[in-house]
Amino acid sequence: MALWGGRFAQSPAEAVFALSRSVHFDWRLAPYDLRSSLAHLAVLQSSGLLEKSVAEPIRGALKELTSEIAQGTFAPIETDEDVHSALERGLTEKLGAIGGSLRAGRSRNDQVATDLRLYAIDHMIEVAQQVIALQESLIAKAKEYSDAPAPGFTHLQHAQPVLFGHEIAKHVQGFSRDLERIENWLDRAQISPLGSGALAGSSLPLSPETTAKELGFIASAANSIDAVSDRDFVAEALFILSMIGIHLSRIGEEWCIWATTEFGWAKVSDAYSTGSSIMPQKKNPDMAELARGKAGRLVGNLTGVLTMLKGLPFAYNRDLQEDKEPLFDSIDTVLLVLPAVTGMIATTDFDREKMALAAPLGFSLATEIADYLVRAKVPFAHAHEAAGKCVALCESTGRQLHQLTDQEFSSIHPELKGNVRDVLTVHGALESRTTIGGTSPASFKNQMKEVSEKTSTFSKEFTNKAKAFSEMMGA
Ligand code: ARG
Repeated sequence: MALWGGRFAQSPAEAVFALSRSVHFDWRLAPYDLRSSLAHLAVLQSSGLLEKSVAEPIRGALKELTSEIAQGTFAPIETDEDVHSALERGLTEKLGAIGGSLRAGRSRNDQVATDLRLYAIDHMIEVAQQVIALQESLIAKAKEYSDAPAPGFTHLQHAQPVLFGHEIAKHVQGFSRDLERIENWLDRAQISPLGSGALAGSSLPLSPETTAKELGFIASAANSIDAVSDRDFVAEALFILSMIGIHLSRIGEEWCIWATTEFGWAKVSDAYSTGSSIMPQKKNPDMAELARGKAGRLVGNLTGVLTMLKGLPFAYNRDLQEDKEPLFDSIDTVLLVLPAVTGMIATTDFDREKMALAAPLGFSLATEIADYLVRAKVPFAHAHEAAGKCVALCESTGRQLHQLTDQEFSSIHPELKGNVRDVLTVHGALESRTTIGGTSPASFKNQMKEVSEKTSTFSKEFTNKAKAFSEMMGA
């Protein structure tokens, strides 16, 4: 059912309707549209614009529609243009002409912006909860490997030994930043456009502050033109979702590398692996690959929305209808990937022995020689040079650093004594990295304590937010 038409002599051409139609994707806004309609109805009634005898049946019909949609007994039909027109059809089918009463003081422009904010808030809270579950599995895995030495890399080359738990735990940090981004995003997303009408506000005695509060927003919008045109909250959400996706992709890449025969560190569980249709021996880390691959579409969705917004005139333009599919897709994608990666991490075992044997390879203890000389007051440039010469000598004679003789050490630098071998162990190298955030067992323990506390704070906070939101929706 069209929500307009009075001034038109012809109905839209088929191609026009086909291009305009959004109900096949915006239908998922229905519960939020109904909830904001209840808030709008309350204001129309309390300001005396709707008699109780009209308001009550509308309220009843809105509630009926809410449960019919949940049960799937009310759904859009071919002729519905968007979620708003489908729901107004539902109201008029139940109530006749008074079903159209809610259009007073409200336009689809402020309505759709309100609905989309509510949808985004609800789902970003869900994303946050899934991110927290992922953090919990990372923390558990990191603790499991809190005493396992492994090579640490730069440029994908052995750099310095690290605790493997430290290697796993680094991922928690990026997701904490993502959670902070969601918290911070909520401050701006929780601004209600309702009451802005088409663009200029309303001449009717509405109360945007009241509807804002009822819908759990922090405040109502300060400028009605901005309110119906602003999609910063969509672009920002897409950025956050992209960042989460990029963090997931880096985990995916790591898992793929660690699961190779050449590395042989990760034993990804069968439940999180897939086979090959032709090569019976294959066990592929497809979850890790999809985690890596999905980041591309997330960035694509962000780019699409930013490009759509660039240079867009104010106030509402139909271009803005293009905000929804990318947002929905990014939310769906992230909510698909997060539990799979969480499960993959929780069920992967790592080969401690292989990692420990690899830890000192590639002369990854050379920095220990330089640091040893620095402690003997040798300027770092000379210390670095001397350590490099030790590596070169080892390379040309096929030995490891600790296998150089006392005489070879002292001929490379007089301050290099035989006791340098004391620091040429993985254990010593790990123990010595005691700076905050370093890889020593002591620093790692503190890190784990802090990160566990932070994650449990996030968990409480987002559980409360989810509860408050669902109470608001159920009210
Ligand atoms: N389906 C539209 C959208 O998603 C709703 C708003 C339509 N407003 C309008 N003035 N045509 O943006």
